[in-house]
Amino acid sequence: MFKIEENVSLKKYNTFGIDILTKKFYALSSSDRLKEVLIENEGIPLRILGEGSNLLFTKNFEGLTLQIATKGIKIINKTKAKVLVEVQAGENWHEFVLWSLSNNFGGIENLALIPGSVGAAPIQNIGAYGVELKSVFHSCKAFEITTRKIHTFSNDECEFGYRDSIFKKKLKGKFIILSACFSLQKFPHSIDISYGAINSQLADKLATIQNIAEAVIAIRLSKLPNPKKIGNSGSFFKNPIITLNDFKKLHKTFPKLPHYPSKEGFVKIPAGWIIESLGFKGIREGDAGVHEKQALVLVNYGTASGIQILGLAKQIQKAALDKFGVSLETEVNIL
Ligand code: FAD
Ligand code: EPU
Repeated sequence: MFKIEENVSLKKYNTFGIDILTKKFYALSSSDRLKEVLIENEGIPLRILGEGSNLLFTKNFEGLTLQIATKGIKIINKTKAKVLVEVQAGENWHEFVLWSLSNNFGGIENLALIPGSVGAAPIQNIGAYGVELKSVFHSCKAFEITTRKIHTFSNDECEFGYRDSIFKKKLKGKFIILSACFSLQKFPHSIDISYGAINSQLADKLATIQNIAEAVIAIRLSKLPNPKKIGNSGSFFKNPIITLNDFKKLHKTFPKLPHYPSKEGFVKIPAGWIIESLGFKGIREGDAGVHEKQALVLVNYGTASGIQILGLAKQIQKAALDKFGVSLETEVNIL
């Protein structure tokens, strides 16, 4: 037997701290229950929730919010150089990073302190400080909502891109990720300290996976707001990827515009720089604002509604288009 709660506020289930109601709410702690829960709620709208750190709720939800809260980390294969680890979707991502560090398994140290669940991590191919999930991702098991069958997706089948995967495109809303397998390295690790800030933070410390994670944590704490203190969902927009030709034109008018390499013929430009140049950094409209240390992060200082935050995001998008001719695509899921 399981009990589905009714008319639940989701305020504590999203890092923006938006107070909306869901008609029904269930925290799934065992995958065995999934079929039963879905059969019982057949025909009503379904929304999958992890830890709510990449969402902006803008209205009440007349359906079932299913929070994936399954736990477990298990080594399923070992070779001389690698371990294959299966992690249940409801595990907290950072706890998993800490587990890998305590076992001296490398590959995800640059992804320390990213909020959210393991099950949501493949959805947008989480990334930070020069590393993306796809570099360690082996496969995931996912439940197809319509057929109620479990499928396994390989790394290639997930079609990972920058903050992107097949689960955000043609399979959007069709699968529930139940677990993911990661291929981690035993010692000696191949580390990545290409991101300048890591190098300076490490100073003269050895580049071990533990020290890299510590450096990443220190950098993140210095500029990103802690959602427990100020509501936010990390970067609100993606960094735009524009053609080399468009970049050359833009660079003539704005010679200080920073840029990074991207796929052949394209350039990535920092949305944070654009938003700061537009004068939005640190602004506040009621309880909705733009973080004072990171212009890419929109914040809720207390009681802002999703609509107020979305209104601010739209002003930023319009200003970016008017002045730079650049479209800022939201990274956060607007619901
Ligand atoms: P949720 O917000 O609950 O859900 C996100 C989406 O995934 C929703 O569409 C939801 O329906 C879907 N989903 C969730 N779980 C499942 C599942 N099991 N199966 C199917 N669909 C599912 N992201 C980065 O990539 N890099 C960063 O550096 C980074 N920094 C951040 C810093 C802060 C302070 C915050 C608040 C966020 C940051 N993020 C970053 C964004 C966020 O941490 C990631 O997107 C994370 O993977 C979201 O996990 P979640 O469990 O909270 O997902
Ligand atoms: N910048 C500014 N002003 C700002 C912020 C940034 O000018 O207020 C410019 C600077 O030129 C800076 C550059 O943007 O050098 C890059 O800034 P930062 O290193 O802080 O990274 P970001 O591009 O703003 C991205 C990710 C983050 C990730 C960091 C570190 C996206 C959308 N965001 O941010 O991911 O943690 O790099 O790798 O790609 C997230 O996805 O939620 C997230 C936080």
